[in-house]
Amino acid sequence: MEYLRVLLPRVTRMQAAIVVAATVPVVLAGGGVLAALLFLMAAGGTVTPAPTQPIAFDHSVHAGQAGIACEFCHRGVDTQAAATIPSVEQCMFCHAAVAADKPQIQLLQAHWETNTPINWTRVHRVPDHVRFVHAPHVQAGLECSTCHGDIASMTEVRQVRSLAMGDCQDCHRESAAPLDCATCHK
Ligand code: HEC
Ligand code: HEC
Ligand code: HEC
Ligand code: HEC
Ligand code: HEC
Repeated sequence: MEYLRVLLPRVTRMQAAIVVAATVPVVLAGGGVLAALLFLMAAGGTVTPAPTQPIAFDHSVHAGQAGIACEFCHRGVDTQAAATIPSVEQCMFCHAAVAADKPQIQLLQAHWETNTPINWTRVHRVPDHVRFVHAPHVQAGLECSTCHGDIASMTEVRQVRSLAMGDCQDCHRESAAPLDCATCHK
């Protein structure tokens, strides 16, 4: 704390202690924010917290504990562009009977009875000018977890990989996939 005395010769020890006590937490908190920002920047800046979904669907129960295959629900994933989100009807395949007394399942059954789809909030979304297609990626042998992380252990799906242009291009370069602009841009 010598510099304080040099800059402000009349500062007492007590005053210096007060200044230090007031400044250190601010500097540390600032450091924390900075570290978080640096982490987000390194990750591409698009890694987002999980949105709240209209029904508390839990992947760790379905894909984890019950061991249901990803493709059972995301039926388009190995043949078309979109993986697709299962319809209420697909949920009712099990939930006409399974856990039928639970409030969240009664909410699901209300959708079924009134024939109204569930408005799931999208987690991953490339901009409109970008073309992403699941099929060639899955057919090339990439695991879902390469891009989506360990979904089978997630209670709520959140995005864990940037999937921004640089990220797509880096993997395309490494795996000798096409790199011309028209591959990914319409
Ligand atoms: C029983 C059906 C079911 C199974 C099995 C299932 N999912 Fe899902 N998945 C859903 C539903 C419903 C949603 C939409 C709600 C949400 O985001 O949690 C979803 C959402 C997702 C999303 C986020 C979509 C978006 O909006 O970006 C990803 C990624 C995903 N699932 C991957 C997987 C993977 C990987 C597996 C296998 C490990 C899997 N899912 C197994 C039903 C299922
Ligand atoms: C292949 C069978 C199967 C399918 C398909 C399925 N589930 Fe489930 N679901 C289960 C099982 C098994 C449990 C665990 C039940 C328990 O804990 O008693 C469960 C639990 C749940 C729960 C938690 C219930 C609670 O409060 O404990 C919710 C919510 C749920 N499922 C929603 C859905 C939705 C929405 C879909 C469609 C996107 C779906 N499930 C499709 C088998 C299925
Ligand atoms: C090469 C990276 C990559 C791989 C591998 C991948 N995904 Fe995706 N996934 C994405 C991207 C990027 C999006 C956003 C696409 C968009 O906005 O059109 C997405 C979106 C989704 C969605 C929501 C939108 C939709 O397409 O219906 C689901 C569900 C999903 N993925 C499931 C899966 C499953 C299940 C697997 C494994 C079988 C898988 N993904 C493998 C990158 C990937
Ligand atoms: C982890 C590696 C990886 C990531 C990340 C990745 N890709 Fe790919 N991509 C591949 C591979 C491998 C292929 C298959 C190449 C082949 O079939 O020769 C492919 C193929 C494609 C194709 C089809 C090309 C064609 O015409 O055959 C498109 C479109 C595409 N990727 C877009 C994207 C976009 C957009 C993103 C980012 C949102 C992305 N990819 C992220 C590895 C990746
Ligand atoms: C492997 C896939 C891929 C290739 C190849 C690719 N892009 Fe992109 N590009 C993306 C994705 C994904 C985004 C959206 C996410 C982002 O902004 O990074 C994007 C965004 C952009 C944007 C908008 C940036 C912004 O700030 O909104 C421009 C401009 C662009 N790309 C130009 C190009 C040009 C020019 C080429 C050819 C040299 C090219 N891209 C090749 C995947 C790709």
